Amino acid sequence: MKAFLISGPGGLSDLQIVERPMPTPRRHEVVLRMLAASINYRDLEICSGTFHTKFPLPLIPLSDGVGEVVAVGEDVRRVKVGDRVCTAYWARWVGGGIHMSEVGTQRGGPIDGSAAEFISIDEQACVHAPKHLTNLEAATLPCAAVTAYQALVPEGNLHAGDTVLVQGTGGVSIFALQFAVAAGAKVFVTSSSDEKLAKAKALGAAACINYRTTPDWSAPVLDLTDGKGVDQVIEVGGPTTFAQSLKAVRRGGWIHVVGYLGGNDGLINPLDIFRRQAKVRGSAVGSRETFEAMNRAMEVNLIHPAVDKVFPWTDLKAAFAHLQSGAHFGKIALHIAD
Ligand SMILES: NC(=O)c1ccc[n+]([C@@H]2O[C@H](COP(=O)([O-])OP(=O)(O)OC[C@H]3O[C@@H](n4cnc5c(N)ncnc54)[C@H](OP(=O)(O)O)[C@@H]3O)[C@@H](O)[C@H]2O)c1
Repeated sequence: MKAFLISGPGGLSDLQIVERPMPTPRRHEVVLRMLAASINYRDLEICSGTFHTKFPLPLIPLSDGVGEVVAVGEDVRRVKVGDRVCTAYWARWVGGGIHMSEVGTQRGGPIDGSAAEFISIDEQACVHAPKHLTNLEAATLPCAAVTAYQALVPEGNLHAGDTVLVQGTGGVSIFALQFAVAAGAKVFVTSSSDEKLAKAKALGAAACINYRTTPDWSAPVLDLTDGKGVDQVIEVGGPTTFAQSLKAVRRGGWIHVVGYLGGNDGLINPLDIFRRQAKVRGSAVGSRETFEAMNRAMEVNLIHPAVDKVFPWTDLKAAFAHLQSGAHFGKIALHIAD
């Protein structure tokens, strides 16, 4: 069977398809015939050798995927042959808070990921895919969607009538938009592109702001909330957006620090957080419990992920180039098998 392997520290030139032995399940493992996968910014960084943490190599990349169970170990109870399951980002974070996750069990680095025709995986890391989703849609859920849901619901305690600001129109932010709209919240979206903002509007955004033409975007957000600010911010820009997020959040509101697309150096004056009494938290995706709760919400509300473009999985490098271009809206998926 074939798999992508990062074989050395040389970046994308060390990412190649190789022949690997067919996996067999140990007592608590299942073997998945992979149907689809999706890519995240973290995967691009890991494959390019620019991720902030270095993992032991060789490594099969990608945290996200969906597959059909084709073999089960003798003690497996949660899934059976024929089930369609997504891979959880954290192989051993079943439930509870982030302190219950085990560092070093993230799929696609440091443990092997989904870019393969067959993988073996602990049954605890299997999540049944929502029935209303195609394989390509289900493959987009493990990292970006769970991150958005974990932030808004278990952490942010989202209620109907709340206000949420999402930055940009990438995977995490578009899922956050869809979940918050389904929950009855009022959602504001920023983007560098008016065309993408029109798509966000069609998904239910209450107001759209172009952060290129309106760099001081917290001002219209305050106008739209009677000067109060929003209940929750999904923060993906890091140093280039955090100061604006602090101005745009209401007193005592949440800033979920998810990404650092604007770089990984910056200055924060803690007094600004104090003055806003903001609740600032670092995100680390979410548990299987969150993943399963999210899937129930998606099934009830018939939410479909926004899949921007699909590549054959063997064109992983072209998919990364598309992600890096920033042209996408929502998620980029990889077809592996039917
Ligand atoms: N900590 C976690 O749990 C976790 C989980 C998932 C992702 N992440 C991180 O979160 C970030 C977003 O992930 P993603 O998967 O949604 O990425 P993505 O799909 O690549 O989305 C990126 C989008 O963000 C917008 N953007 C880019 N630079 C920006 C900036 N400086 N300021 C504001 N917006 C900017 C752009 O939207 P427009 O084109 O509309 O302008 C861009 O298309 C990444 O840094 C990723 O590594 C963290």
